[in-house]
Amino acid sequence: MLLEGRIAVVTGAGTGIGKAVALKLAGEGATVCLLGRTEARLREAGQEIAARGGAWAAYRCDVTDAAQIGETVARILDDHGRIDILVNNAGISREMPFLDMPVETFDEILVTNLRSVMLVMKAVLPAMVRQQSGSVVNIGSGAALRGLPGSAAYSASKAGVVALTQAVGDELRPQGIRINAICPGPVDTELFRKSERRAFILQAGGDLFDPESVANGVLFLASDLSGCTNSQTLVMRGFNRW
Ligand SMILES: NC(=O)c1ccc[n+]([C@@H]2O[C@H](COP(=O)([O-])OP(=O)(O)OC[C@H]3O[C@@H](n4cnc5c(N)ncnc54)[C@H](O)[C@@H]3O)[C@@H](O)[C@H]2O)c1
Repeated sequence: MLLEGRIAVVTGAGTGIGKAVALKLAGEGATVCLLGRTEARLREAGQEIAARGGAWAAYRCDVTDAAQIGETVARILDDHGRIDILVNNAGISREMPFLDMPVETFDEILVTNLRSVMLVMKAVLPAMVRQQSGSVVNIGSGAALRGLPGSAAYSASKAGVVALTQAVGDELRPQGIRINAICPGPVDTELFRKSERRAFILQAGGDLFDPESVANGVLFLASDLSGCTNSQTLVMRGFNRW
């Protein structure tokens, strides 16, 4: 068990990659706090964790809402006393030609995918600083490294996640905290199944991974297995172009 006794927080934990990450971390002994907007989905994920003998707690939280994030992190600290692992996974995608993209859509994607990572880190990191330990894993995307046509706002938001990871990771390294990012290629989740760019991405020759593959990468970065790794980006994709 790599994470025995640790307290982990996973955002967007009710579906897709977030749910696979929650199951993986719980399977390694962590108590997993599942954050998301839909309580029923969080509970379903929690019941799967429990069925495998793991420990979990669900917290309804919209990661675009700073007040909700503050209250939720305070409740988690009240309930569990500490936070050892944070996985910023919640995200959305909206695809459209750049010239048709309303400014409101750009803002919505940046607020959900990038500003949320800043807000949740600002809420959780003071506890990690007090502990002088912690590991944060932020979920970026292959689109962060090579902008995806039709997904300008999404690509920009994920590139921001990588830069935020590097900057804050370097700032907090002296406090015993590691912050890393994962940039997955296409993963078989609802987000990708609904994507209008699906054919384009798959035609480019990439493999479609299952969410558990990304969860394996998160486990590596969240655990002591990656003890010497900070402010880095783990790229998990089967090709190196669109
Ligand atoms: N599927 C892919 O191909 C792929 C590739 C690279 C990166 N990613 C990233 O992986 C992460 C997970 O995506 P997924 O593929 O599992 O899709 P998904 O749609 O199944 O999961 C996203 C989760 O985030 C939650 N979420 C969205 N907005 C939220 C908000 N405001 N507050 C709280 N929760 C919110 C959703 O409810 C959902 O549970 C996202 O950040 C996505 O950008 C996905």
